[in-house]
Amino acid sequence: MPVQTQNATAGRWLWTCRAGFEAHLYEELAWAEAAPRLLGEALVESDAPEGPPPAFARAGYQVLAPLPPGPTDAQADAVARALTGQRGARPWVLQAFTPDTPRGNTRAAAAEALEAAVRARLPAERLLDDARRAREAGALLVGLCVAPDGVGALGLVAAREALSLAPGGRRRMRREGESPSRAAMKLEEALDGLALEPGRGDVCVDLGAAPGGWTQRLVARGAKVVAVDPARLMPELAAHARVEHVQESAFAYAPDAPVDWLFCDMAWRPLEVAQLLAKWGRRGWAGHLVANIKLPMKDKNPILHRVRHILVEDGGWAGLTLRQLYHDRDEVTVTAHRVR
Ligand SMILES: C[S@@+](CC[C@H](N)C(=O)[O-])C[C@H]1O[C@@H](n2cnc3c(N)ncnc32)[C@H](O)[C@@H]1O
Repeated sequence: MPVQTQNATAGRWLWTCRAGFEAHLYEELAWAEAAPRLLGEALVESDAPEGPPPAFARAGYQVLAPLPPGPTDAQADAVARALTGQRGARPWVLQAFTPDTPRGNTRAAAAEALEAAVRARLPAERLLDDARRAREAGALLVGLCVAPDGVGALGLVAAREALSLAPGGRRRMRREGESPSRAAMKLEEALDGLALEPGRGDVCVDLGAAPGGWTQRLVARGAKVVAVDPARLMPELAAHARVEHVQESAFAYAPDAPVDWLFCDMAWRPLEVAQLLAKWGRRGWAGHLVANIKLPMKDKNPILHRVRHILVEDGGWAGLTLRQLYHDRDEVTVTAHRVR
């Protein structure tokens, strides 16, 4: 990977990623012939890629302009001028962020100050404060990237097309008291991006369910859950009226009748998991899929490529999204549905 020498380029896309995953994101973008360039830790820019968005990107913004050097006020003047010079009247959601690294975090105060200074210069009626309403309001996310070494950019993305509604994709979530694991947060983040969510009366199968973080979240939403895992579930879930624990391997399990949702967080080899999920798709055993695929190997992109192929070509899963979410470590999360 060539070392960063310049700032972000207007018109190109600025991507954030998990620290340490720059090479994977870079490789994906290079395979998509999108001419990637590393801008620093956890920051890569590229042309708009053909095909699906990169799996290792947490967030992406089209760069309107690099941030000029200089004091916050001068930067804020330039940002406000660039924004108000744009055509259209869609609401803006201001999102200042730093790269998600210890060095990046040293710029947090500067990022906050810039956001406040930009906010003060923009007409209040154009600003939307609640990012959760950004999609329905047709808003534009305004990314203010403030990185070390003088790197910074003003970028835009339509909320409806954004990979994440969180600034730079840094979706911090408070751990809920009753949640047994970090896994529960991964699930909530995955469900965030979906048009349809599991709810009351839905039947869900949760493969690799123990100790029960995902099952617990699904039950809390009113769903019935078949939790498939040879390991033990938390006792309160095992005894729950809407939970059936099938204590066997997911590879041996078949549902009695098609279910609404298939969830999978099995700690197992990715290609074998993909083949199992493809079997569920081919047989029409579930309408919707949310699966976490473990990628502990060094060379992740060739495996991801094959996982995508197996799910779509062998499994017939449609509307596939494949993303390393904020809460994902050496793993990615897949969502998909059956063609109706
Ligand atoms: C990361 S944990 C799942 C965490 C769970 N989603 C939660 O929220 O608590 C991975 C699970 O996969 C299970 N697992 C591994 N191989 C499996 C198999 N063949 N069938 C079913 N479960 C399996 C393990 O027993 C383990 O409980």
